[in-house]
Amino acid sequence: MNNIHVEDAETLGRKGAIFIAGQILARPEGVIGLATGSTPVGVYRELARLYESGWLDFSRLITFNLDEYCGLSGSDENSYRRFMDEHLFDHVNIRKDNTHVPDGMAEDLQAECDRYERLIADAGGIDLQLLGIGHDGHIGFNEPGAHFPAGTHVAELTELTIEANTRFFDRSEQVPRRALTMGIGTIMKARRILLLASGSDKKEILQRALYGPITPEVPASVLQLHPDVTVISGV
Ligand code: F6R
Repeated sequence: MNNIHVEDAETLGRKGAIFIAGQILARPEGVIGLATGSTPVGVYRELARLYESGWLDFSRLITFNLDEYCGLSGSDENSYRRFMDEHLFDHVNIRKDNTHVPDGMAEDLQAECDRYERLIADAGGIDLQLLGIGHDGHIGFNEPGAHFPAGTHVAELTELTIEANTRFFDRSEQVPRRALTMGIGTIMKARRILLLASGSDKKEILQRALYGPITPEVPASVLQLHPDVTVISGV
C-alpha cells in the first residue's frame, strides 16, 4: 500500500488529480471508476484545470460511478449524475455516452444492477477506481454488515450515512433511504485503487480500515487485500 500524507485540502486535490492524470495519459481509452461526495471535489476541479490547460484529453475515456440514489432522476440537483456533470463532465471533453452512473429511477432495480455489472465487464473492467470513505468505513454505499456484498446491488443507507448526507439536502427526510452501489467485489476487481480521506474526523476510521482487522464491519478494511492501493490522506 502506498500512503501519501498531505497538509491541506488543496494538496489532496492536486495530488489526487495528478495520480488520475497519470492513468489517463497512460491509457487515454481506459476505464476509470469515480466517486461523489465532498472529498473528490478538489480532484475534479484540478482535472478540469489540467484539461483546460491542454494537458489532458478525455475524449476516449470511459467512466463508471460507484453509486446513485434510488428514486432521483439524473436531473435532480441531489443526484450523483448531476454532481458529476457539475463537478467534472461539463468541464472536460468527455463524451456523455461514455460516462456511466447507475439509473436510480430504473423500474427493475435488480435488472439495472445486473446491467451495470455487465457494462463494466464489457468495457474490460476498471483500470483505476477512485474512492472516498464514510465515517463508518463504507465505500460506495457498502455499509457495515455481516458480509462483503459481491456485485452491484440495492443498498439500504444506515442512519449514520443518512445523517452525514443530510448536508447536501434541506432536511434529513429528503435523503433517499436506498441507493444502487457497486459491490465490494466490483470495487476489488479494479486493477488499481485510489482512496482519498480528508479531515480529522476521518482519521480514526482510516486507521481502522488500513491497519485493523479485515472485517465486513469496516467495509474499507477489505482494501488491505488489494494488491495496488494508494491512499492520499490528511488535512
Ligand atoms: C460517494 C460514495 C461514498 C463517499 C463517502 C465519503 O460516491 O460512494 O462512499 O465516498 O461517503 O463521502 P465524503 O467525501 O463526502 O466524506
